[in-house]
Amino acid sequence: MFITFEGIDGCGKSTQISWFEATLRENGIPSVVTREPGGTKIGQAIRDILLSLDNTCMVPLAELFLYAADRAQHVSEVIKPALEAGKWVICDRYFDATTVYQGVVLGRHEKLIEQLNRETTLGCKPDVTLLLDCPAEVGLERRTKRDKRRDRFERKTLDFHIKIRYGYLALANKYKDRFRIIDSTLPEDQVARKIREVISPYLPESDLNQP
Ligand code: TMP
Repeated sequence: MFITFEGIDGCGKSTQISWFEATLRENGIPSVVTREPGGTKIGQAIRDILLSLDNTCMVPLAELFLYAADRAQHVSEVIKPALEAGKWVICDRYFDATTVYQGVVLGRHEKLIEQLNRETTLGCKPDVTLLLDCPAEVGLERRTKRDKRRDRFERKTLDFHIKIRYGYLALANKYKDRFRIIDSTLPEDQVARKIREVISPYLPESDLNQP
């Protein structure tokens, strides 16, 4: 089972992923929790380059190829082997992030992005993508409260984050079979409950699986 979490910055992914990891543990499900960019040693180095405030001059194509490089390494080294070993993989961002952040917002390189997403993922497509949705203002406020030292992305304008949000919602609408939209303005425990409801049919011991 391959589950990805997506959403704008400050949507609450990190908290929900750690709660969800605990749910999997309670259910005795072997899992790997990972993230992009930065799910491998090489990926962490790429993440540092991507998010560094020293690199504000990075051109969009360089950025796109760095995310692709991170993903190629991550899928080969972590995601594919874990799925082949029968583990659940929970990934904080995946190829949908590239489609939205590098594609939708700039409105360029659409075909190239599709090709890179295909080549780097080696057929590993998420079974479920949880989109934690909240207004851009809410996301930015949460992130600012949490960490005053904002990275390169979080320094972007509110307008940028609004475009990201609507980019994700459009993608969720296009791939309805895979995406589930969760309202992340709700209190954290309610968001966690909604996530469990979405995933419970896949849990081996789930009541919903009983006849
Ligand atoms: P994070 O803070 O959720 O770990 O993500 C780091 C930043 O990287 C976030 O602003 C979104 C961005 N990103 C992209 O622009 N493209 C991608 O493909 C991925 C995976 C992340």
